[in-house]
Parts: sequence; structure tokens; C-alpha cells
Amino acid sequence: MSETLRAAAFLDKGGTGKTTTVAHLGVALQREGYEVLLLDLAGKQGDLAKHFGVWEAYREAIDADEAWPNISTVFDDAWGTIAEKLGEDAVADLVVDTEEGVDLIPAHPGLDTLDADLGTVDDARDRYSRLEAFLDEYVDPLGYDVVLLDLPGLTNNVSYNGLWAARHVIAPVEMGPFEAEQADALRRDLQKIAANFDVEIQLSLVLPNKVDTRTTLAEEYLDAFREEYPEAIAPDLVPYSQDIRNATEAGRTVFRLDSPSKTAREARAAYLQAAEVLVDRLQGGDA
Ligand SMILES: Nc1ncnc2c1ncn2[C@@H]1O[C@H](COP(=O)(O)OP(=O)(O)OP(=O)(O)O)[C@@H](O)[C@H]1O
Ligand SMILES: [Mg+2]
Repeated sequence: MSETLRAAAFLDKGGTGKTTTVAHLGVALQREGYEVLLLDLAGKQGDLAKHFGVWEAYREAIDADEAWPNISTVFDDAWGTIAEKLGEDAVADLVVDTEEGVDLIPAHPGLDTLDADLGTVDDARDRYSRLEAFLDEYVDPLGYDVVLLDLPGLTNNVSYNGLWAARHVIAPVEMGPFEAEQADALRRDLQKIAANFDVEIQLSLVLPNKVDTRTTLAEEYLDAFREEYPEAIAPDLVPYSQDIRNATEAGRTVFRLDSPSKTAREARAAYLQAAEVLVDRLQGGDA
């Protein structure tokens, strides 16, 4: 693959599985042979790094003032100057390795004030396109096949930067009335951005998550999502799996479980399938 593909996990709602999805799709892509970089913009708690068991070490680096530059620095007016001073290693130093093969740029406390900081940038295009400028100039040359972004579960200047930079959205949805509404609101929001800024952002993957297939209500919601998002719906659903919770708490994905439960095996298969169609859609949708 010659060009780095990008997608951002987003839904204007907390807890639907954005971070879990980024971690698992990332590892699924890696297992399918792609070089993957994950980027955590979702807040200072460092959930994505925790997912791979690398947060404690990174937090120590933060406490020792060694985590500089970091993901919040790249939005700064002075980033160009900082990067120039640091030379070749400026961006490589942002990246942390994980045992599952994917690379990661972790969150940082500086994300706390990033939304407000960006709010002081007068020009709207400049305000929303800083991450894109960083990825274009500094990350694409690193040669990753796919970059996945984990975004905050709310609409703000940071999530706008993520959407703007990725141009493709992955929306994990639970099977409920509220999520159906949020997915619809997301689609309207993307249309608004297109109208206001002439920036096309596609809803590329709607991934039903935490589905309890034993209930007929879940099946009904699933059918409704399939009907509403035929071009974006994932090939298969991710079931509710206690193994996902347990693995996450142990700092790994379900791909690294030695004796996965039935739901964990189903989840793996669903992520692998979703990863394949995602790449197709990211490659095809950019014309
Ligand atoms: N398929 C699943 N089965 C069981 N638990 C799940 C599944 N997907 C996610 N979870 C759990 O649900 C919780 C929320 O998931 P996650 O942190 O990925 O959501 P999020 O959208 O990133 O949340 P936030 O908006 O807070 O960042 C976590 O405890 C996670 O382990
Ligand atoms: Mg999250």
C-alpha cells in the first residue's frame, strides 16, 4: 500500500466502545498484515494505552517530564519549530510500541486544555485542520498502512480535528434507541461539516457492539441499523463478551487470550471481518 489510510472512532456518546474498537480493529489489521498506528485523543486517562498495558510506563515518563513532545504538543502553534529543533526523532519519539504489534501515540494530560486552546484559534479551518496538517507532514512519511484515531465521546474542537483529519468515521453502536439517534445525529453533523467547509467525511463503518443476540429486541435494532446504513454497516456484530472486559483490564485485546470463550471468538472474527471491509472502504471512498 502506498498511501496511509485513516479512520476515526467517534460517536457523540460515552461508553459505546470507541476505545475497544480502535484497539481491536488495530490488532485485527495488524494480523492481516498491515502496519498500524493508533492515536489516542480521547482524554488524559490514557484508555488506549491501558488497553495494551503500556500506560503505567508512559505515565511515569509524564511524571518525570520525559513525555515531551506528546500528542497535545502537535496542535501547538510552535509545533513546526519544536519539530525542527528535535530533528528526525521528533515524531518517532511520540510513538510507543505494544506487544500486540501495533504502535501507539498515547494520550497526555495536555489534552485536558486542548479543546479550550483550539477555541482561541480564530480561523475555523485552521482550528479544525491542525491534526490533519500534523498527520500529512509528520506521520504519513513514517509509512504506516493505517492510522486509527480514538476520539472523545463528545463533539468539541478535538473531535472535529479527528474527523477532519481522518475523513472516515467508525461508529461503534450499542443496540438501543439512543444510539440509533446518535448515529443519525452523527450523519447530520458530517453533512453540516461538508456544507460549511467543503470537507467530505464519510461514515465508513457502523459497528454493532455489545450485542446480546439472545434478545429479539437486539435483533430488531440490528435490522434497523442494517436498513439505515447499508453502505456502512459492518459484516458482523461484536457480541457482548465478558472476555473483552477481562482482557481490557489485563491490558490486552481478546486476540491474545489463550482460551477465548465463544463470545470472544465471535468478537475476534467480527473484528477481522470489519477490518477487511474497512480497508476496502478507506481505499475506495476517497476518489
Ligand atoms: N463487546 C463488548 N462486550 C463487553 N464489554 C464491552 C464490549 N465493548 C466494550 N465493552 C466495555 O464497555 C466499556 C466501555 O467501552 P469503551 O471504553 O471502549 O467505550 P468508549 O466509547 O471508548 O468510552 P468513552 O466514551 O468513555 O471513551 C468498557 O468497560 C469496555 O471494556
Ligand atoms: Mg474511550
